[in-house]
Amino acid sequence: MTEFLKSRIAEDKAIVEAALKEYLAYTDPGFAVLFDSMRYSVDAGGKRIRPFLVFEFCRLFGGKIEAAIPFACAIEMIHTYSLIHDDLPCMDNDDLRRGKPTNHKVYGEATALLAGDALLTYALETAATNDKVSSACTLEAVKLLTRAAGPRGMIGGQQLDLIGEKEKYQLPTLRRMQELKTGELIRAACLLGVIAACGDDAAKIAAQGYAGGIGPAFQIIDDMLDVTSDAETLGKNVGMDAVCGKTTFMTYMTLDEAYSAAKILTESAVASVKNYNKSDILCEFAEYLLNRKN
Ligand code: IPE
Ligand code: IPE
Ligand code: MG
Ligand code: MG
Ligand code: MG
Repeated sequence: MTEFLKSRIAEDKAIVEAALKEYLAYTDPGFAVLFDSMRYSVDAGGKRIRPFLVFEFCRLFGGKIEAAIPFACAIEMIHTYSLIHDDLPCMDNDDLRRGKPTNHKVYGEATALLAGDALLTYALETAATNDKVSSACTLEAVKLLTRAAGPRGMIGGQQLDLIGEKEKYQLPTLRRMQELKTGELIRAACLLGVIAACGDDAAKIAAQGYAGGIGPAFQIIDDMLDVTSDAETLGKNVGMDAVCGKTTFMTYMTLDEAYSAAKILTESAVASVKNYNKSDILCEFAEYLLNRKN
């Protein structure tokens, strides 16, 4: 990774983490455990890939970071909620996430469920109260987020993922599952950046093209890392897809084939934005995601 990308990732991470801290500072003394549990998973870290995409698409199209901050926080809250629920015993039954015991291991299943619900709804409140963009843009952002996170988006993908434990579906269904469960939030992140910058239709098409490449590639690499990496590097358990009997890219492809598929998707992502001035950061980021180790 170049110094340029490394420092921009660190800069964007610091911005979103400071804002998340503020958004999540409130505690109701009557039920402090809920707020502790929400903060536990958000503060545990993570790569903050989705906020980075919000910020960088906003920058690419000349927007101000202040306008993108509530959207970046909202998408990271939704993503974190999806991980809390994904790890529950009735889902993937994982006990390690972001290098720490999973939320339900610390707070119990019921509070983990509520912390997830709370992060989802608070995310929508956070996006809907963004006063740094016009109300038309806020509405567009909230529509996008709710659609991406909902039954025709991430949740639909999670349902397909569960079905894939029982029946080995074919590659087109697997691709659809991955586009929904992972691709939709990544697509929303890129578009939220454009909305924060009041970008035009051409900007949205570029963002969609980029997301359509890196989104599926991201899940292919996630499936590969589940086979090739280790818990210390990843901060989550490995080999869990096989334990759960999931249908993943590893069901149909060798590691080399999967990497080649992710590479082609990455190239298409790069092609979608590379003609824009100052898009080199996003081009480099796509390459980093392809070759990431965690
Ligand atoms: C993990 O997402 C879940 C998937 C969608 C594959 P990330 O790899 O972005 O997780 P964090 O946020 O860095 O923990
Ligand atoms: C999860 O996919 C995608 C979500 C919507 C949370 P995985 O189940 O493969 O994610 P990890 O590997 O547990 O992070
Ligand atoms: Mg899962
Ligand atoms: Mg999982
Ligand atoms: Mg996985």
